[in-house]
Amino acid sequence: MDFVDKNIEKYVEALSDKESPLLKEINEYTINHVHQPRMLSGHLQGRILSFISKIKHPKNILEIGTYTGYSALCLAEGLAKGGKLITIDRDKSLHDRVHEFFNRSDYAKNIQQLIGEAINIIPEIDLKFDLVFIDADKKNYKNYFDQVIHKLNKGGIIIVDNVLWKGKVTDLSKNQNDKIAVYMNDFNEFIKKNKKVSKLILPVRDGLTLIIKDEN
Ligand SMILES: C[S@@+](CC[C@H](N)C(=O)[O-])C[C@H]1O[C@@H](n2cnc3c(N)ncnc32)[C@H](O)[C@@H]1O
Repeated sequence: MDFVDKNIEKYVEALSDKESPLLKEINEYTINHVHQPRMLSGHLQGRILSFISKIKHPKNILEIGTYTGYSALCLAEGLAKGGKLITIDRDKSLHDRVHEFFNRSDYAKNIQQLIGEAINIIPEIDLKFDLVFIDADKKNYKNYFDQVIHKLNKGGIIIVDNVLWKGKVTDLSKNQNDKIAVYMNDFNEFIKKNKKVSKLILPVRDGLTLIIKDEN
């Protein structure tokens, strides 16, 4: 399910910033050569990630779920000078190709790619972040939130993907067999109850939640 009408999406993409040639190449490479290409953020969501990053101008960014590197490069566009983006994925098979994409970008020196289970890697990272993108295994979203909220500076932003899960979260009585719909609804309720953060669900692509850490 797409929340934005296809014609509207085309119009918005045509009249907004374009993807860089490298992002376009990653998009096409992913569609033609990689499993589940729908996982890639794509043009519109990529521009949203880039825009938020440019507003925030983060010193450090953490991404959970590198995949083919598309969203990492969008987020990197807003990095402060000398800033760092750490991106984690457990899929070793994509590492070398993605590393090559990163090396060809303007952010080669800023990006660190880590391979492994995010839940084990995050506690080992000794850095504070201004921007975090959670886009990996949905059953761990609550755990990722709990891990990263302590590493987020006050005023920092967490962006979470797939929070509407094809719209299924809106009618769980019909979607009890879809475990991910249940995880995502639990996560959305969990965030709603947290009084220390501001939260906004954007019905873009598969649903993006924006979270701001208001209080420590
Ligand atoms: C939806 S894709 C990420 C898409 C990418 N952020 C983008 O927008 O282009 C999810 C990625 O999370 C990775 N992943 C899933 N579970 C993980 C885990 N437990 N630890 C680390 N990476 C994981 C998968 O290997 C996959 O590449």
